[in-house]
Amino acid sequence: LNYRVPRTRKEIFETLIKGLQRLEYRGYDSAGVAIDGNNNEDKERYIKLVKKRGKVKALEEELHKQDGMDFKTDFETHFGIAHTRWATHGVPNAVNSHPQRSDKNNEFVVIHNGIITNYKDLRKFLETKGYEFESETDTETIPKLIKYVYDNRESEDMSFSALVERVIQQLEGAFALVFKSIHYPGEAVSTRRGSPLLIGVRSKYQLSTEQVPVLYRTCKLLKPFVKNRTNILKVVQNKPVCLSFYSAIIEHTNRVIFLEDDDIAAVADGKLSIHRVKRSAGDDPSRAIQTLQMELQQIMKGNFSAFMQKEIFEQPESIFNTMRGRVNFETNAVLLGGLKDHLKEIRRCRRLIIIGCGTSYHAAVATRQVLEELTELPVMVELASDFLDRNTPVFRDDVCFFISQSGETADTLMALRYCKDHRALTVGITNTVGSSISRDTDCGVHINAGPEIGVASTKAYTSQFISLVMFGLMMSEDRISLQSRRQEIINGLQSLPEMIKEVLLLDEKIHDLALELYKQRSLLVMARGYNYATCLEGALKIKEITYIEDTESSKFAYKAIELPQTVDCLQGVLSVIPLQLLSFHLAVLRGYDVDFPRNLAKSVTVE
Ligand code: G6P
Repeated sequence: LNYRVPRTRKEIFETLIKGLQRLEYRGYDSAGVAIDGNNNEDKERYIKLVKKRGKVKALEEELHKQDGMDFKTDFETHFGIAHTRWATHGVPNAVNSHPQRSDKNNEFVVIHNGIITNYKDLRKFLETKGYEFESETDTETIPKLIKYVYDNRESEDMSFSALVERVIQQLEGAFALVFKSIHYPGEAVSTRRGSPLLIGVRSKYQLSTEQVPVLYRTCKLLKPFVKNRTNILKVVQNKPVCLSFYSAIIEHTNRVIFLEDDDIAAVADGKLSIHRVKRSAGDDPSRAIQTLQMELQQIMKGNFSAFMQKEIFEQPESIFNTMRGRVNFETNAVLLGGLKDHLKEIRRCRRLIIIGCGTSYHAAVATRQVLEELTELPVMVELASDFLDRNTPVFRDDVCFFISQSGETADTLMALRYCKDHRALTVGITNTVGSSISRDTDCGVHINAGPEIGVASTKAYTSQFISLVMFGLMMSEDRISLQSRRQEIINGLQSLPEMIKEVLLLDEKIHDLALELYKQRSLLVMARGYNYATCLEGALKIKEITYIEDTESSKFAYKAIELPQTVDCLQGVLSVIPLQLLSFHLAVLRGYDVDFPRNLAKSVTVE
C-alpha cells in the first residue's frame, strides 16, 4: 500500500463528486467537500472547504466557480473528504452541511454520519473554553473537540489517530467519522461506532496478506471531559478509500474492510493501519479484506427510466435468486443455510417476533398468517419504533427477526440491541451483506435480491416475503399434517417467477389507469386477509412518491385489473406489483423524480 503517484486536485475532486453522485439515491439535502488547496505563491497547504445546499451538481459548479481545479498539485499525498447530508439537527443549509470545521482556518475538518447524543454537554464545555460555534449541528462539536485535544496535547509528536482516540472517548451516540487536518498533511483518520464504515482497498497490486492486523494501544482510557447526562466518503490519492456505502466506490475496487465499532483506521504516507484502544476477550486481532460480489452495471439503470422501474421489472429474477439453492422442487425440502444451526432452538421457542420499518414491516404483516399456520407458533409483528416505545417484554426463549433491506435502519438496529440485551435469539433478514443488522444478529438469511437503489422499495419486499415463507416451510418439514399444504405452497413458489412476468405484462394497462387517476387528490387502497399487507404496502408506495395526500375521501372510480391466481398465501406477491407500477406511473405523470422523492431517505440511519 505504499506507492505514490501524484494526482491532480481535479482528479481527486472528480472522484469525490462521482462518489457522492452514486450515493444521491439515498436521499440528502446538501453536500460538501474538503480538499487540499495550495497557495500558488508560497506553496503553503491549506484546506479548501466548499459546501452547498441542494444537489451534488450545485456543489460541483460552486467549486469550479471558486477555483478552476485545473492545476497540478505539488503535494506528494493528497486527501479529499466529501459528504451528503440529510438534516437531523439544524436546517439544511451550507453552514450546517459537512465537513464541519474546528475554526476559520479549517485546522481540523470532519464528516459524520450518525448522531452525537451528548453534543449539548460537549458544546457547553467547549464554549466555556472559548470556542465559537457557527452551525446548529451536533457534528460541529467533533472538530472543535479535536482541536481542543490537539491544543492541549501532552507531547508535540502525538499522532493524528491518537487524537481521534481521545475524541471518541468523549462521544456518545452513533458515528462514522473521517477526519482531515492541516497539521497532518496527507493523512486521514476514520472511525465508527454504531454507524457503518468500510474501507475500500484500491491497491494496484495484490496484497501479500488478506488480513490487516489490529494494533492495540496500551495507553490508559481518559476520563470523559463531560459526564453522560443525558454518507461518508474519503478519497486518498491512490489508495484506500473509506465510505459508508459501497456503491460510491464499486467502480474503483470491490475489495473492502468492514470496520468494527471503535476501530480507528489511519492512512498516513499511503499506508493503512487499524488501531484499537484496548483488547477485550473474543476480539478478532485482524480485519479481513473481503471481496464484494457486486458489479457496477448491477447498480446502473440500464434501459429503464428510473431505478424503481428497473427493480419492479427485475422481480421474476430477484425472487428466483431468493429461492435459488434453497427450495428443492423435487424433494420439497427447504433449507436456509444461515439458520440451520439454530433450527432446534427456534423450534423450541416461546414465540416469534418479527420487527421492521416501512416496507420491511409490511413484508412481516404479509406473511404472519402463513407463518402461524406453518410454524404453529405465536407470531408477533412489530414496527420497530413502536416496539421500542412500548418497552415490549422480551424473553430469552423468544426468537426475534429483524427485517431490513439496508440492514442499517436505526430503529430496527436499536430494537435488535434491545432484544440482544434481553438475551433472545436474533435473526437478521437483510439484503446487504456486511450490514450492521446482518453482522450483529446470531444468524440470518440474505434475501439475495441484488442491490436496491430506488428509494421506494419494491423487489426487496417480494424477496423478504419469499424468505419468510421459506422459513415457514423449513420449520414445517416434519409436520405430517401440513404436507399437502406445503406441497401447494412449494408449487406456488415454483410458478411465481412466470406469474410475475404475466403481471408485468399489465404495465400498459396500469399506465392507462394512472392516466385516469393522476390528477386525483386521494386514493383509497382496500383489501383484507392475505392482501391486507398488500394494501398497506401499495398505499405506502403511492404516498412515498406521488404526493397525493389523503385529506378527503373522494368517489372511487372502479377499474378491474385481473391478476393470475396463485396459492392464497402467495397472492400478495402478485397483487403488490400492479400497485408498485401504479405508484410509479402516477409519480412520473405528476412530474416527480421517483428515485429522489423529497423528504425520504433510502435507509433512515438516525432515530
Ligand atoms: C425508511 C424508508 C422506507 C423503508 C424503511 C425500512 O423508512 O423510507 O422506504 O421501507 O426505511 O428500510 P429497511 O432498509 O430497514 O428495509
